[in-house]
Amino acid sequence: MKIEKIRTAVVGCGMISNIYIRNLSRMFAIIDLTTLCDVNPAAAKEKAETYGIPRTMSIDEVAAAPDIDLVVCLTGPAVHESVIRKMLEAGKHVYTEKMFTTDLAASRALVKLADEKGLYLGVAPDTVLGAGIQTARCLIDRGMIGDVTSALLTINRNQVLNSEYFRFLRGPGGTLPYDVGVYYIGAAIALLGSVTAIAAFGNPAPLHAPEVLYANAEAEPWQIPGNNTVAASLRFANGAVGSVLFDGNTVAAEQHAITIYGTKGILKVGDPNTFNGEVTLILPENAPVKMPFTHGYDGVNRLGDFPFAHYGDRGIGVAEMAWAIRKGRKNNRCSKEFGLHCQEVLQGMDIAAQTGSVYVPESSCVMEGLKPGFYSSMFGGTARGDAEYSLMD
Ligand SMILES: NC(=O)c1ccc[n+]([C@@H]2O[C@H](COP(=O)([O-])OP(=O)(O)OC[C@H]3O[C@@H](n4cnc5c(N)ncnc54)[C@H](O)[C@@H]3O)[C@@H](O)[C@H]2O)c1
Repeated sequence: MKIEKIRTAVVGCGMISNIYIRNLSRMFAIIDLTTLCDVNPAAAKEKAETYGIPRTMSIDEVAAAPDIDLVVCLTGPAVHESVIRKMLEAGKHVYTEKMFTTDLAASRALVKLADEKGLYLGVAPDTVLGAGIQTARCLIDRGMIGDVTSALLTINRNQVLNSEYFRFLRGPGGTLPYDVGVYYIGAAIALLGSVTAIAAFGNPAPLHAPEVLYANAEAEPWQIPGNNTVAASLRFANGAVGSVLFDGNTVAAEQHAITIYGTKGILKVGDPNTFNGEVTLILPENAPVKMPFTHGYDGVNRLGDFPFAHYGDRGIGVAEMAWAIRKGRKNNRCSKEFGLHCQEVLQGMDIAAQTGSVYVPESSCVMEGLKPGFYSSMFGGTARGDAEYSLMD
């Protein structure tokens, strides 16, 4: 089959662009990564040289280029809205890193704009398409734990200390619930479906006096805006309830957990910020069993030495959307509706905490599982068409 590739540009050549550029240029037969762009042209040039990407452009040139179909937005969250809007208005399909935007109304307006223009708009985290979460989804769909009754989602970090290094964390969208909790909410939505009601309590981040990396270099302390610790209760459309604890005000010893309880068994799902979180099935009268992956994209680096390899298979969501574009089907995985729903659930926790009332999200989404049985390891991972088959339909 001759594959007509989707001509792609990356906008935002910072930290996470390394794994995206490497993967998009080498892992997916559907993607032709031709162009890099950054508000700082030197950053784009440096990445183009490092990864062998043919050209760099300004943001206006990307918008005007007739030979770019899809733009991947990898700027910090505060800049997503302006980049996405500009590219949609220029007639480009867009895929953006999380958070969708830092403002719910802005995200809703972008969904509307994409619909009006008939353009695809996709939103990370695409870790939900990795082997770990897709295997868990497959086991749930096949009844291994019966009907899902409840879920437990928890992650902790010292987000304030992290904001010394990752500067975009100091602004809107930088709290632990938004920056990292989104992987847990995304996983919960991918496994259980949409959320229909939210109750919550929250606490803000402390005012932070610079401690380590920027000691003496920063005059002013800062405070990450919003609730950095949230305890919430969720009800899902399928009737299950969920308990959420996101704590960004504690130490960096990460204790993450996703546990899905059902009428016939329990599933433990590994780190949703990776592509290969272990999936453990617990059934009465058996020792817990680590389940084999039913899907590819297990986050293992098979393309040779690479310092950013631990960032895994980022880019699957872009490729899945590219296949949707090429085949004229909906992208019912990392879609704009998925991104909007993740954002509204997180924002709903803040609103519920602030008002002391139950927040009822307006949004919902469909999240289809990927086809099982296609793996990333064929011929040592050099056959690009193996796991990619699971992204086509
Ligand atoms: N760093 C991580 O570990 C990580 C992991 C997963 C997802 N993400 C997400 O990826 C995105 C980027 O994160 P990062 O860590 O790479 O940030 P970063 O600050 O390292 O890079 C962002 C880049 O965008 C550029 N930029 C800013 N405004 C721009 C504009 N208007 N036009 C073009 N370029 C512009 C900046 O110059 C910078 O090079 C964020 O949405 C973040 O949530 C980051």
